[in-house]
Amino acid sequence: MHTIINALHSYNRYLIIVAIFWVIFRSWSGWMGKKHYVKTDNTASLVLLILAHTQLLLGLIQYFFTSAYTTGDMPLSDPWVRYFKMEHISAMILAVVLIQLGRTFTKKTPLDEQKHKKTALYTTAAAVIIFVMLTMKGLFLGTLAQAAAVAQ
Ligand code: HEM
Repeated sequence: MHTIINALHSYNRYLIIVAIFWVIFRSWSGWMGKKHYVKTDNTASLVLLILAHTQLLLGLIQYFFTSAYTTGDMPLSDPWVRYFKMEHISAMILAVVLIQLGRTFTKKTPLDEQKHKKTALYTTAAAVIIFVMLTMKGLFLGTLAQAAAVAQ
């Protein structure tokens, strides 16, 4: 059970990375280039939101039910336990909230420039958090097994 959910959570990270670059590119170029907010902009941000919510759900299942790092009795002094029990969850939930807020505020304004601007700022902030959190543990492109081996 954990293996499947962990694999989905792990692979979904790559989809999120691609989608977040896609949204950032479209929103910044739309904002700076004073372009119309078109259907593809909406689709890109919707895809990112769905992936982020899926990641949140998979993460919560692991956090509360299946992960040895967060459900076992491993000590907080272990850097991986501390990372997953405290740092990963709090930072990633904040990132998902920022992605959600960006989309919510975008929907509330009728102005194309404001839609691009809000999407650009909130999504970029979320991306910085996600990239920093993954990079600090070697998880941006690699797997947990590889990162743990390097850390030893
Ligand atoms: C955009 C959001 C997120 C990204 C990109 C992300 C990414 C990752 C990655 C790359 C791993 C290592 C997977 C592996 O190779 O084994 C991981 C593990 C984990 N994540 Fe996330 N995560 C996100 C959000 C969350 C959230 C919100 C939670 C909790 C609510 C969470 C809980 C966990 C847990 C518990 C593990 C460790 C699983 C294990 O026991 O091996 N993640 N995450």
